[in-house]
Amino acid sequence: MALLIFLLLLAFSAVTADEDAFIGVNIGTDLSDMPHPTQVVALLKAQNIRHVRLYDADRGMLVALANTGIQVVVSVPNDQILGIGQSNSTAANWVSRNIVAHYPATNITAICVGSDVLTTLPNAARLLVNALKYIQSALVSSNLDRQVKVSTPLSSSLILDPFPPSQAFFNKTWNPILAPMLSFLQSTNSYLMLNVYPYYDYVQSDGTIPLDYALFKPLLPNQEAVDSNTLVHYTNVFDATVDAAYFAMAFLNFTNLPVIITETGWPSKGDSNEPDASLENANTYNSNLIRHVLNKTGTPKHPGMAVSTYIYELYNEDMKTGPLSEKNWGLFDANGDPVYILHLTGSGSVLANDTTNQTYCTAKDGSDPKMLQAALDWACGPGKVDCSALLQGKPCYEPDNVIAHATYAFDTYYHQMGKSPEACNFNGVAAITTTDPSHGTCVFPGSLGRNGTMVNITAPSMNSSSSDSSHYMINGSGVLMSILTVIRLVIWGVIFV
Ligand SMILES: *[C@@H]1O[C@H](CO)[C@@H](O)[C@H](O)[C@H]1NC(C)=O
Ligand SMILES: *[C@@H]1O[C@H](CO)[C@@H](O)[C@H](O)[C@H]1NC(C)=O
Ligand SMILES: *[C@@H]1O[C@H](CO)[C@@H](O)[C@H](O)[C@H]1NC(C)=O
Ligand SMILES: *[C@@H]1O[C@H](CO)[C@@H](O)[C@H](O)[C@H]1NC(C)=O
Ligand SMILES: *[C@@H]1O[C@H](CO)[C@@H](O)[C@H](O)[C@H]1NC(C)=O
Ligand SMILES: *[C@@H]1O[C@H](CO)[C@@H](O)[C@H](O)[C@H]1NC(C)=O
Ligand SMILES: *[C@@H]1O[C@H](CO)[C@@H](O)[C@H](O)[C@H]1NC(C)=O
Ligand SMILES: *[C@@H]1O[C@H](CO)[C@@H](O)[C@H](O)[C@H]1NC(C)=O
Ligand SMILES: *[C@@H]1O[C@H](CO)[C@@H](O)[C@H](O)[C@H]1NC(C)=O
Ligand SMILES: *[C@@H]1O[C@H](CO)[C@@H](O)[C@H](O)[C@H]1NC(C)=O
Repeated sequence: MALLIFLLLLAFSAVTADEDAFIGVNIGTDLSDMPHPTQVVALLKAQNIRHVRLYDADRGMLVALANTGIQVVVSVPNDQILGIGQSNSTAANWVSRNIVAHYPATNITAICVGSDVLTTLPNAARLLVNALKYIQSALVSSNLDRQVKVSTPLSSSLILDPFPPSQAFFNKTWNPILAPMLSFLQSTNSYLMLNVYPYYDYVQSDGTIPLDYALFKPLLPNQEAVDSNTLVHYTNVFDATVDAAYFAMAFLNFTNLPVIITETGWPSKGDSNEPDASLENANTYNSNLIRHVLNKTGTPKHPGMAVSTYIYELYNEDMKTGPLSEKNWGLFDANGDPVYILHLTGSGSVLANDTTNQTYCTAKDGSDPKMLQAALDWACGPGKVDCSALLQGKPCYEPDNVIAHATYAFDTYYHQMGKSPEACNFNGVAAITTTDPSHGTCVFPGSLGRNGTMVNITAPSMNSSSSDSSHYMINGSGVLMSILTVIRLVIWGVIFV
């Protein structure tokens, strides 16, 4: 029952998060062993990731994401901007092949037309606004323009003099493109997409940006950055950059455009000359970021206005060229194992505690078999564990020994009890481990599967199966054993029920 209520709460908080700010994840694919789309989607589901951004419109991914409820942002790759920006019909073909073919089964919510085009592909810049408009008119013809928004991620490096935010403005070289672009975004009820990298801001600042300020760590009041015009105190680079974007847009007379952060993150590993690319900093940045975004605090300029954010990125991309840090922005490795354990207590349901190492409760090696048997009986009886998987012919029957069966029952009980450490004791014969005890088709509660397959976590059975506990006896039990068992059952009944 407690679990049921918990699940309902989880569902509720997911809905409210959707209406307000959300956290999504970018999925780069430059991996030597890129997981299959079904494995990617299994990981997203297991981690409760409800928003993703793709760097293309890969058919396999869009098919795998169908009917998952996950909201998807797709991208027109930069090398297609020239073609689409020059031809209405190329744009229409792109939309029909990559959007119309998948919507609504796949819930595509936005199209990024290129990424960092002005900074990385300046020769396509003059066609960028055309490309946005052609994609938009193809959506209008398909009657999808209300559901699918069109925008293009900009690098925050386009904002010059970002501090103080009230004096920030876009590099004027690009005003002839930015002005019509912002006008397009406003008229289509879209949003400004911005890539924000406090890591680079910090590294390139030569010490003028304190690390704690980049990492959202608490600052002493005299360490906060004060905007001398507005007297607003900034406590982190992220907020200051988002406000700089609001002011830079206002400078061009656009005051109503919301901002979405299409990329931000922190690398967890770097070369010897990149000491701040570390596990601890990456964890601190992303954990604080998630809490900050989901807390709906908004920014000082627009308190309470959602700044939904896509973390860069889901996987470490080992094929990326450049310094070691380039390959280490991911939350997970190719196996779906987390690179670090996010500190997310109290942040809501997105990327919840599941990014931690999965934990399991197993029977301790070398435990007294009689103690194990008694604990097994207790778990499958008063403990209300559904032990049917241990019956002959069922997936977890083999190996038919008390340690394997007890491990299954202990782990199931432990998960039923919300993985509370006290639920993995069983009079000292059980221990918590991070090694998945699943084997063959016997999948343990908490397991994500070796190949990342989504596994149903067994909900606590509402059926009392106490009368079945005799099925789980391994060796014929003598009278003494039975008496001991009863005594232990009573003792544990007091402890656990
Ligand atoms: C592009 O095509 C749409 C219809 O698909 C049309 O409404 C729009 O005017 C066209 N634009 C240009 C520049 O041809
Ligand atoms: C896509 O997600 C949004 C936000 O949750 C929802 O309002 C919309 O109905 C979904 N669309 C489809 C086709 O599922
Ligand atoms: C503004 O953008 C132009 C074109 O990319 C670039 O050459 C120039 O250096 C930028 N200005 C500044 C101050 O960064
Ligand atoms: C913004 O609006 C003001 C007042 O209408 C006008 O004077 C100014 O030229 C506009 N600026 C831009 C960049 O369009
Ligand atoms: C969340 O917001 C509340 C009130 O707005 C504030 O007291 C709290 O410190 C915030 N928490 C974080 C982690 O930002
Ligand atoms: C998960 O647990 C294993 C084994 O204890 C450990 O080596 C690994 O570092 C842990 N992973 C994380 C992300 O903490
Ligand atoms: C995450 O863990 C904390 C502490 O263990 C717990 O209070 C919280 O409910 C957990 N959140 C979720 C969504 O599981
Ligand atoms: C997982 O891996 C096992 C063995 O490697 C394979 O038999 C099974 O089909 C895989 N499942 C999925 C869903 O890929
Ligand atoms: C969980 O199991 C139920 C019943 O076996 C099944 O219908 C459902 O699709 C499963 N869910 C997932 C996410 O595998
Ligand atoms: C109890 O278990 C039986 C057999 O597995 C099943 O038919 C029944 O629906 C279950 N009752 C409840 C309340 O889960």
